[in-house]
This record gives sequence, C-alpha cells and structure tokens, in this order.
Amino acid sequence: MERPLTQHIPDNGAALHLREYEAVGGYSALRKALRDMEPAQVSTLVKEANLKGRGGAGFATGMKWSFVPMNVPGPKYLIANADEMEPGTFKDRWLLEGNPHQLLEGMILASYAIQATDAFVFLRWAYKDAAREMRRAIADAYTAGYLGKNILGSAFSLEMQLHTGVGRYMCGEETALLNSLEGKRATPRAKPPFPQVSGLFGKPTIVNNVETLSWISHIVNNGEAWFKSLSYTADGGTKIYGVSGRVNKPGAWELPMGITMRELLEEHAGGMRNGYRFRGALPGGASTDFLTDAHLDVKMDFAGVAAAGSRLGTGTMVVLDDRTCPVGFVHNLEHFFAQESCGFCTPCREGLPWTEKILWSLENGTGEPSDLELLERHARLLGPGNTFCALAPGAMEPLQSALKYFREDFEQHIKEKKCPYAHHQH
Ligand SMILES: Cc1cc2nc3c(=O)[nH]c(=O)nc-3n(C[C@H](O)[C@H](O)[C@H](O)COP(=O)(O)O)c2cc1C
Ligand code: SF4
Repeated sequence: MERPLTQHIPDNGAALHLREYEAVGGYSALRKALRDMEPAQVSTLVKEANLKGRGGAGFATGMKWSFVPMNVPGPKYLIANADEMEPGTFKDRWLLEGNPHQLLEGMILASYAIQATDAFVFLRWAYKDAAREMRRAIADAYTAGYLGKNILGSAFSLEMQLHTGVGRYMCGEETALLNSLEGKRATPRAKPPFPQVSGLFGKPTIVNNVETLSWISHIVNNGEAWFKSLSYTADGGTKIYGVSGRVNKPGAWELPMGITMRELLEEHAGGMRNGYRFRGALPGGASTDFLTDAHLDVKMDFAGVAAAGSRLGTGTMVVLDDRTCPVGFVHNLEHFFAQESCGFCTPCREGLPWTEKILWSLENGTGEPSDLELLERHARLLGPGNTFCALAPGAMEPLQSALKYFREDFEQHIKEKKCPYAHHQH
C-alpha cells in the first residue's frame, strides 16, 4: 500500500528538512514542470487526475484552477488553507509539521499553473510547531532557489509568506480568510464574484487545503493514472483519515481513498476501548451528520458517505460511544459553533446560541416536550440556503442526525428531567 504523502515523515515526530526531502526526490517535480511543462499542462494534469479538494467540500481542484483568468496583468495569489480548526480534525497538522517542503513544492507548482505572483500559508494560530517548521522551510527554499526571482533559472518568480491566523474557526472559510489576510474582520464575502476571479485585494486567487496541495508534486511526477490507481474507488488518491473518541488507538493514517468505516475503526483505530460500544460517528469532522453501526460498511469516499446521508468532510471521524450522552455530545459541539459564529447573519448569530441553550436545558433536566420541535425548526432554518456561509448549516448536521438516530435519548432527558448518563460531556 503506497503512502505518498506521509511515507517520508520521520516516526519520531521530526520534520523532513530540505536536504532529506531532496534526497527522496523532493523538488524534482518542480524541476520537471519548469523545464518541460507549460503552466496549462500542469492544470490539465491535475484536472485529469480528478483530484478533489481535501478541505471539506471535495471540489475538483483542476476545475477550480481553470476559473482563474490567465491573460490579465497584475498580481495573482495562491493560498494554502492551514487554518484547521474543525473539531476532531488534525490531519493537516501531520503534513505541516512532518513534511513542510512537500506542501511548499505543491504550492509553487500550483502557483506556476495559475501564474500566481505571491503565495501565502494561512496557518492556525495554535500550530506553533508547524509555524516553526514552515518558517524554516520557506527560508531554506529561498536559499536553495526554489522561491524568489527566476526560480531554478526559469522565467517564473514567486514570493511566499507565512501568515498565522487569529484563532477563529471562521477564518478557515475561504472568503473570510481573504478578509482576515487583508487585515479586515473575518466575515465571509458574497459569491459571485468567486475568489478565482476577484479574491485577495480583488485579484484572482486560489485557496486550497494543505492536503490538496501536498498532492501536486506527486501527480506531476507520477501522472494521473498512478494517482487514480491508489484508491479503492472512483475518487483518486489516498486520504488522510483520522479517528478520535473512545477507541483503542486514536490517530491519523494515510490509507487508500474509499476504505470502509469498519476497517478504519477496527483495523486502524484498534476498535472500541474495553467496555465501550460504538453508537455512531461523525465521519468527516464536527460539521457532518452522524452515521451509525448500520453504516459501518460505507466506503469513505465523497460519493459513498454522501449516499449514506452524511459527508466525507475532512475524513476525520469522531466516534460516539454508548456511555457518552448524545445530547451532551451535540451540546458540546453547538457550544463551539455558537462561539465561533461571526455574527454576520441573523439565523446563525441568534439561532446557534438558542440551540445551545435548548440542549443545555435538556441536559439540566428543564427541557420541555416542545423543545424537540424547536430544535428541528432550528435545523431547518439554519440549513443550507438560509445563512451567509456554511458554518451554520454545518453546525446543524450533527444536531439533525442526532435527533433522527438518538431521538429516544432526547425524549428520555425530558421524561426523566435529567441526563440519564452518569458521566456526560459538556
Ligand atoms: C466555517 C468554515 C471553516 C473552514 N475551515 C477550513 C479549514 O480550516 N481548512 C480548509 O482547508 N478548509 C476549510 N473550510 C473550507 C474552505 O472554505 C474551502 O472550501 C477550502 O479551503 C478549499 O480547499 P480545497 O478545494 O482544497 O478543499 C472551511 C469552511 C467553513 C465554512
Ligand atoms: S452563517 Fe454564521 S458564520 Fe457564516 S456568515 Fe452567517 S453568522 Fe457568520
């Protein structure tokens, strides 16, 4: 089983530095592209590989790049979205801390493809080790001639900067990220215009996830057929999957795209901890719908998880066990989302704290029978199409699916006027 993204990351948690990266073929894809390929050929290759974005929405990367107008003068921008604040998601961190040059090479190739003049790594504030490694990698890449003017003697030049965020989940939404990078309040922007046409400082901009960009050098070196062959299903490549919760070995693994939930849970995460039973899981991070043990044979690719009624999201599964209160579990998530709402649109600004309050009253034994209908109304009113960005609809996914799959737990809280779980989370 090939693990192109992570195979060279040292086991001791150290980063692969420039000389080590070069020793395993690092920057050969950049040399090849600058020597033998037109920018459009790089884009076409990524399009043919059918690489889908690993940031949560699964949008086709080559297609996204193709929207950048190529013959306009002035700056263009490429941004690596390394904000990674989705609860339960810790996959990009592995790549940032372990193989920073793989990301940089992918960013330089992506910049070449869209003819970007400047590139930014927008990094989560709390990722201090990643910041240290990225800073060093960028400096080393400049010294080695992979960044700056006339890269490797070619006509292509690129400047690169590391920007550390302010510790808000909202900044990961790509248009809020652009406002934040411009020094403005991190609220999302109306689309259209899309960032590909009018993004950072009104110039064409591509925002891609860290894992997405880490693929580019491998695709340039090995081609689209190789990329597709890594996967079990139609979505090519491997995926960095994660599992958290009461399992024996919580962690992250690079595995073929399309592995089943069961294999991920039982073989890689080592199964449930002694004494705990699996009740359900958010398959793709906190803002995805619960799946249950009836779904354990679902293939974890974009289409497979969608067909089961959830989303692959970031591919990092959060497990709910039988001794954790589902109402408390969802309350905990809604507390996070309410806190992280940017306050720009009314349904989200008012609805999320209200949702959190209702869930809290259920936990406290003061819930009313009418609360379930009220929660369902919130799930509808904060759903897709009613808010300015995807934060609120994402926040409703664990709630609406908990009401569907764990309804008896909600009802029991109301009937017994208390949380029936001895040790519940808040
Ligand atoms: C509230 C919110 C937070 C997000 N956070 C991230 C993030 O931390 N990292 C990320 O890559 N995408 C995040 N996204 C998705 C981005 O808006 C965007 O779709 C993604 O960066 C595109 O990259 P991709 O095409 O490579 O998947 C977030 C979206 C929302 C609505
Ligand atoms: S949905 Fe929430 S986070 Fe998104 S713009 Fe509206 S208030 Fe802000």
